[in-house]
Amino acid sequence: MASESTFAGEPQPWPAVDILEQYIAPSRIQRVDGVLRSRLGSVTAVFEDIFDPHNVAACVRTCEAFGLQDLHWIFSKHSMRTSSTVAKSADQWVNMHRYTGTAQAVRALKDQGFTILVSDLQASDTLETLPLPAKAAIVVGNAHDGISDEMRQLADARYILPMWGFVQSFNLSVALALTLQGVVPRRRAELAALGRTGDLPMDQMWALRRKWLEFGMTRPDLIRRELGDSEAIP
Ligand SMILES: C[S@@+](CC[C@H](N)C(=O)[O-])C[C@H]1O[C@@H](n2cnc3c(N)ncnc32)[C@H](O)[C@@H]1O
Repeated sequence: MASESTFAGEPQPWPAVDILEQYIAPSRIQRVDGVLRSRLGSVTAVFEDIFDPHNVAACVRTCEAFGLQDLHWIFSKHSMRTSSTVAKSADQWVNMHRYTGTAQAVRALKDQGFTILVSDLQASDTLETLPLPAKAAIVVGNAHDGISDEMRQLADARYILPMWGFVQSFNLSVALALTLQGVVPRRRAELAALGRTGDLPMDQMWALRRKWLEFGMTRPDLIRRELGDSEAIP
């Protein structure tokens, strides 16, 4: 897979010491920082009308394990109410973005500079033959209907994951995992060449760090205010 991406710069130091750090074990801080520094903002996953809780949970888990931070859910055929199923299954470590239509989601992602790569049983290209864009949004479709025709038309590229058996498709979370295994190590190798482990913007990392360090604390907002944290919500 050829690459069009460019990343510059060394890993930045955190903007400040988080006031809560004094109450948190150094090993936990190290773990949070390690995961944050490995997060990818340049690879994201898009789910078109996927609401089955088992598939949702498997997909979220897979994305989190690969280091993706932002996940996008399109609910066009199914009511937005099904999004609560998705939200329940979503892990606390990833950000969920919801859309009511395919066009709306694609527009939002393209506005952020993403190239839309669609996994599609009707495609003829394979992932390896496609260039790896600077920002890749990987789309998977519904277990019954697959990818919509609208998504096919809006895609920048479509690919098929080769199969040699009798079954007609991979489970969607498996298709997602195979795709991420094709994309993420490649992106990580590019980052490693620049001395980096991830590419999430610093403002996003800092906001997540504050949130993740608070997990397990009772009323961290009050503690922050009591300690005079200038970023604490008044
Ligand atoms: C279970 S499959 C959908 C099968 C559906 N009956 C169809 O005809 O598309 C769910 C999703 O996983 C992805 N997928 C599964 N197997 C794939 C493959 N071999 N190549 C590309 N994408 C695949 C596609 O995004 C697909 O929409």
